Amino acid sequence: MSDLFERLREIVGDAHVLVDPDLRAPYETDWTRRFTGTARCVVRPADTAEVAGVVAACAAAGTPIVVQGGNTGLVGAGIPTGSEVLLSLTRLTGIEPVDPLEAQVTAEAGVTLENLQRHARAAGLDFGVDLAARSAATVGGLVATNAGGIRVLRYGSMRAQVTGLEAVLADGTVVSRLSGLAKDNTGYDLTQLLVGSEGTLGVVTRARLRLVPLLPARAVALVGLATTEDALALLARARGALTGLAAAELCYADGVALVRSYAGLPAPFPEEYPVYLVLECAARSDPTDELVELLGDAGEIGDATVASDAAGRTRLWAYREAHTEAISAAGIPVKLDVSVPLRELASLAAQLPPTVDAVAPGARLILFGHLNEGNLHVNVLGAGAQGTELTDAVLNLVAAHRGSISSEHGVGRAKARWLSLSRSDAEIATMRRIKAALDPPGLMSPGVLLP
Ligand code: MLT
Ligand code: ZN
Repeated sequence: MSDLFERLREIVGDAHVLVDPDLRAPYETDWTRRFTGTARCVVRPADTAEVAGVVAACAAAGTPIVVQGGNTGLVGAGIPTGSEVLLSLTRLTGIEPVDPLEAQVTAEAGVTLENLQRHARAAGLDFGVDLAARSAATVGGLVATNAGGIRVLRYGSMRAQVTGLEAVLADGTVVSRLSGLAKDNTGYDLTQLLVGSEGTLGVVTRARLRLVPLLPARAVALVGLATTEDALALLARARGALTGLAAAELCYADGVALVRSYAGLPAPFPEEYPVYLVLECAARSDPTDELVELLGDAGEIGDATVASDAAGRTRLWAYREAHTEAISAAGIPVKLDVSVPLRELASLAAQLPPTVDAVAPGARLILFGHLNEGNLHVNVLGAGAQGTELTDAVLNLVAAHRGSISSEHGVGRAKARWLSLSRSDAEIATMRRIKAALDPPGLMSPGVLLP
């Protein structure tokens, strides 16, 4: 092992091979505190050549690697299990000038989403993915997990933003396809194969990213409703009526109460509602009128409040966006991220409380999510030793509703053993063949994604 450490120090410099347990610790536990492990060392390369050197050195030594970006992942894919070298990409922070003609930009893996957004906006454009962890989540992690977030309704998930990648494969080979051509039918799409591969096929070092128009005028509504069915009916009408619809986010009374006590927020309405929906419109000119008109027409609405100014929008978004932090402050949840066809969503939401209660009586269920994609974040506090049984019960319920066991967070270590609920034997066998072709010794993120 000391030979490998020596080689890694030669490649990245002494200061960037962290062996001391105190220095490794922040990398060895994830944001949720659910996943924790030990790495042989943490290596912090500065560029693609150093990443390739590190990966080749680990391959020569037969040492597995786990790749980490901003460590904001929620399924343990970036956390080691004991034998791996942890490759942290946060020093790859280069970002090229925006190309206004192509409306694209090339960014290194360690650029945070917030910095990418700032960079695009300074050039009069914007980036199509946004999520609450924007200050720490990195481009490499967003690509590796095919991240979703609050703008999927309008722009699709990360996959739809990526026009090309540079990546280091398991043997240290660098593959690069960063021309960003809008049309390019020259064989297998290696870029899209790597998107969502969760570090199991290679290390994403750089991405060519599509940018979207900057829409400076925004209006946000927080709506109180009686049922999930009402929220779905309002969504369907909003999609038909609002040209600028940019987000439709769902939460429930329990979650809003938790967020209010965590963040010290006032009650949004004089009356409490079982269901809340955040709708956002974004356009070149003020979309407030179309949003207000929709809400005025809608019979299913209990109450609604609209904000167009930046402070008011942030205030309304907080009821939804602070869910993750409020839950984490209350304990370490069992955190599941599922999606079902919209027709199944209300039935799933109704069946989740008794399902959770049967496995973990007294546990606290908080549901929220991205309504348009049928994506529910199922968070359970106080499940005690019942975490695995609870996961099993919830994911089987989701499968019975023709859903996916991972909507946007990925499979990671958290759900690998349940992959067959969402993918057929033939699909999993094909994935294994791809994995074996690109990483024959299985050194890239072992235990992640594939059971
Ligand atoms: C969100 O939608 O806020 C994120 O997916 C984070 C989470 O699920 O906690
Ligand atoms: Zn989410």
